[in-house]
Amino acid sequence: MTYAIQAEGLVKRFKETEALAGVDLAARTGSVLGLLGPNGAGKTTAVRIFATLLSPDGGRATVAGHDVVREAGLVRSLIGLTGQYAAVDENLTGTENLLLIGRLLGLSRREAKARAAELLDRFQLTDAAGRAAKTFSGGMRRRLDLAASLVGRPSILFLDEPTTGLDPHSRGELWDMLRALVADGATALLTTQYLNEADVLADDIVVIDKGRVIAEGTPDQLKSEVGGQVLELRPVRSVDLPATHRLVSDAAGDGARIEGGSITAPVKDPELMPTVVRSLDREGIAVGELTLRRSSLDEVFLALTGHRAEPPSGNGSGPGGHAGAEGDGGGDESARDKAVSPA
Ligand SMILES: Nc1ncnc2c1ncn2[C@@H]1O[C@H](COP(=O)(O)OP(=O)(O)O)[C@@H](O)[C@H]1O
Ligand SMILES: [Mg+2]
Repeated sequence: MTYAIQAEGLVKRFKETEALAGVDLAARTGSVLGLLGPNGAGKTTAVRIFATLLSPDGGRATVAGHDVVREAGLVRSLIGLTGQYAAVDENLTGTENLLLIGRLLGLSRREAKARAAELLDRFQLTDAAGRAAKTFSGGMRRRLDLAASLVGRPSILFLDEPTTGLDPHSRGELWDMLRALVADGATALLTTQYLNEADVLADDIVVIDKGRVIAEGTPDQLKSEVGGQVLELRPVRSVDLPATHRLVSDAAGDGARIEGGSITAPVKDPELMPTVVRSLDREGIAVGELTLRRSSLDEVFLALTGHRAEPPSGNGSGPGGHAGAEGDGGGDESARDKAVSPA
């Protein structure tokens, strides 16, 4: 099988730093591969290699079966790249930016104009098309950047943290645009630090940390295989939090944590829940909420790396807005499998 995007044993060093230490990944044609990892994991390095902007020190990378080093020119003609930082020229207008790229790609003046108008319309930038890009909002700029990457009608897209720093509404718009592109047959490699973004958009996820793949699978596989189930309970009185934590730790071993006013613990043994309930009863601790649920991708990430994904700069809350446009339900961290209230 030829993958639209594939890396085998990819290695890249910057002096002492091994940015990629032998990464394997593959994206099927027409799918979205989420490349997930914290700051410094090696995501941008991988994207830059696929985009022929960096050459690997080891292993190989192909786009539509073409080697990114030996067939760099061909690869460049197949791909669109949206960088972590918008690559548009600030002083040019929206239209001028797209015209310039169209002309650089060899379109005639007329073709370039038509393509620019079409893309500006599609990305809801027509009204702002005559303004310098420096007057655009963050969300408009990302849209223009994405539009710029599409001038040459690429079938394979690399989106490097396209939504980092965007407000939830703009992020949702970008998600919708990416979905539409993939519905039209494009393949995308999307890097993100947002776990729920990968959950919502990606067909498959590869998690990297310090240049190594630490997990891969569909969002559901990652959540169930790596994370399993999580017990979460909230004592009615916050003074009971330490005692509850101790009691859950005794039953669950490592991994019991205090999070806000709740205790969470991975469930490895089906007896955990009844054991905890009996102990709570014995110690007279009233619990307002006791649930068994699937791990969130955040917890999967924590289990894999020993640290949480850092909130990207900008707004610390991560995405989460844009409810409604998404119908999948499967990725929702609040999905409860079971809930009981012993108190
Ligand atoms: N041009 C470079 N020179 C030196 N070190 C670099 C360079 N580019 C990336 N690195 C280092 O390689 C590692 C991976 O970086 P990067 O691919 O940008 O990670 P990510 O995109 O996941 O945040 C980091 O430790 C980073 O500091
Ligand atoms: Mg990066």
